[in-house]
Formats: sequence, C-alpha cells, structure tokens
Amino acid sequence: DNDPRIHAIQSRIRVVPNFPKPGIMFQDITTLLLDHKAFKDTIDLFVDRYKGKNISVVAGIEARGFIFGPPIALAIGAKFVPLRKPRKLPGKVYRQEYDLEYGSDCIEMHVGAVEPGERALVVDDLIATGGTLCAAMNLLERAGAEVIECACVIEIPELKVCTSLIHASIFLLLFCS
Ligand code: PRP
Repeated sequence: DNDPRIHAIQSRIRVVPNFPKPGIMFQDITTLLLDHKAFKDTIDLFVDRYKGKNISVVAGIEARGFIFGPPIALAIGAKFVPLRKPRKLPGKVYRQEYDLEYGSDCIEMHVGAVEPGERALVVDDLIATGGTLCAAMNLLERAGAEVIECACVIEIPELKVCTSLIHASIFLLLFCS
C-alpha cells in the first residue's frame, strides 16, 4: 500500500527475536501504542474501511484484540464483544477449541452477546496460522451472526494455515517479512 501512514505504523512495531521462545520473531505492538499518531492512524485506517457498513458488532480477541477493537467499535457505532480465554466469562458461553502446533487452545463468547443476523467484524493484532481467527469466526457464526471481515494489524507468514481461512475475508495493514 502507498499510504504513508502504513510505513510509520510498521516502524513503530518492535521486533524481538527469540521471544517468547527460540526461533520466534515477536511482533511487539506495545511500542506502537506509545506513539499517539501511529496508534490513531492504525485505528483510523480500520474505521475508514468499516464506517457506514452497517456493522453492529466488533468482536475482539484476547488479549491484543481488546486494545484495537474498542476504539474501532466506538467510532463506527458498534458494540464490543470480548472473545476470551477459557473460564474467564461468568455467563453461559459458546466455546471453540482450535489446534496449536503442539496441543490446543480455546476461546469463549457469552451466549446472548450477539443476536442472530448481526453483522460482525473480528479484530486482533496479528494473524499467524489463522487458527485463532477461525475459532473466533466459528463462535460468531454459531450465535447466528454474519462475519463481514476479520481485521488485523499484521500478518506473519506461516507454512501451516487454517484451511477455513481460505473462505474468509481478511484485511491486514501490514505483512511482516
Ligand atoms: C497471538 C495473537 C493472535 C494469535 C495469532 O495471541 O495476538 O491472537 O496469537 O496466532 P494464530 O493466527 O496462529 O492463531 P497469543 O496466543 O500470543 O495470546 P495473547 O494475545 O493473549 O498473548
């Protein structure tokens, strides 16, 4: 993309080699949050894309989808629904497991947070295998919502990609090389 804001956003993401384990190049968005203009530009790029699209739900994935999701929801006039790690939500939940490289993980959403027929946007900071996003889309679809798109700041290329992601609409600000 030629938008000069994208380059500035990229320059504010700190890359930490071998964190949290050897071989991982960790994309640290906390340094982006320290720069008011770059953080605001990040939110604005998403808001410009989604305002006026009749989206009534922004679903954010724990933990960093809780940073980018709420300002987008407020700006486009949607509610915010947190998709949480297991056993954090007190009410009745939909639960979706997904595979990791070794083992599995799980996210949950409150039953009743989303009504059938609602138009939803899923927000997270980063996509790698897409397993987390696929689980998130499943939760919303089980509640009867229509997932319009998934929006992430950054993508890390992965060899093994969640197959149901092929049918999804994904919007990214940056690719990491
Ligand atoms: C990271 C990231 C995404 C997910 C992407 O979260 O914030 O949610 O991994 O990986 P995937 O595309 O392979 O599913 P993490 O598991 O580090 O949890 P955290 O945000 O709670 O630290």
